[in-house]
Amino acid sequence: MTVISIDDKAATVTVSDEKGSRVLPLASPEAFSLVSRAWLRAGWDVKYVYGFSWLGRPVIQLPEDMIRIQEVIHALRPDVVLETGVAHGGSLVFYASVMKVMGVGRVVGVDIEIRPHNRRAIEEHPLKPLITLIEGSSVAPATVAAVKAQIKPGERVLVILDSNHTKAHVLAELDAYAPLVSVGSYAVACDGIMAQVAGGPRTKPEWATDNPTEAAKEFAATHPEFRLEEPPFPFNEGLVTERVTYWPGAFLKRVR
Ligand SMILES: C[S@@+](CC[C@H](N)C(=O)[O-])C[C@H]1O[C@@H](n2cnc3c(N)ncnc32)[C@H](O)[C@@H]1O
Repeated sequence: MTVISIDDKAATVTVSDEKGSRVLPLASPEAFSLVSRAWLRAGWDVKYVYGFSWLGRPVIQLPEDMIRIQEVIHALRPDVVLETGVAHGGSLVFYASVMKVMGVGRVVGVDIEIRPHNRRAIEEHPLKPLITLIEGSSVAPATVAAVKAQIKPGERVLVILDSNHTKAHVLAELDAYAPLVSVGSYAVACDGIMAQVAGGPRTKPEWATDNPTEAAKEFAATHPEFRLEEPPFPFNEGLVTERVTYWPGAFLKRVR
């Protein structure tokens, strides 16, 4: 158990953990990491990520993760971003907007239930020409077949898994969709934050081990063509080298 206390006047963080107690300058990457972790937990408890939209559609993501995945999309220039878990469509619209500006690619979104008002709003969105919606469980054979039918041989594909976040479901999604991922691209298992926030409001105790990060870890251990690898920061003149994220250990890079 780690306990931190912040003295913002002295600009220090006191941390007590199994190694003992020590005082860190607030202006240190270690203090930033500890404070970020506490901020993520507080954000979970107050539903911080349920307060953003992108070009008119609610998007349920930590803004930090959106910036980072934008960097990945920009570097990869995928032909297709496949996302499971559409909800209001904000993340699909976000990826589509990035791809529209880049002049390359389109997005395919899968959800077990696309509510009529969400479908209507997505279909009326100016970015709709870049968006294909598929309704059905992401692991149902008919859905997997419908997704595969959207992708042409040789296309560069990035897969983002943001639907049901149990380990079993994410593993089943990885079995279905990881083969579509191009070499050099990623399958991204979103929302492994569940392990860090277990015990908080709207959580279950089993989230400590039943989460997407565990699925990604297990998948990497059994699929040598993938390894867990953080995408590089394309720009970094600061001291922070790790993502502040809801997606810890999420990036499965296809290496062959
Ligand atoms: C966290 S939300 C997605 C958020 C969205 N990607 C965004 O950033 O705004 C999860 C979505 O997954 C969908 N979902 C749950 N189980 C699913 C399944 N088995 N197959 C496909 N979608 C599923 C839910 O209906 C819900 O809309």
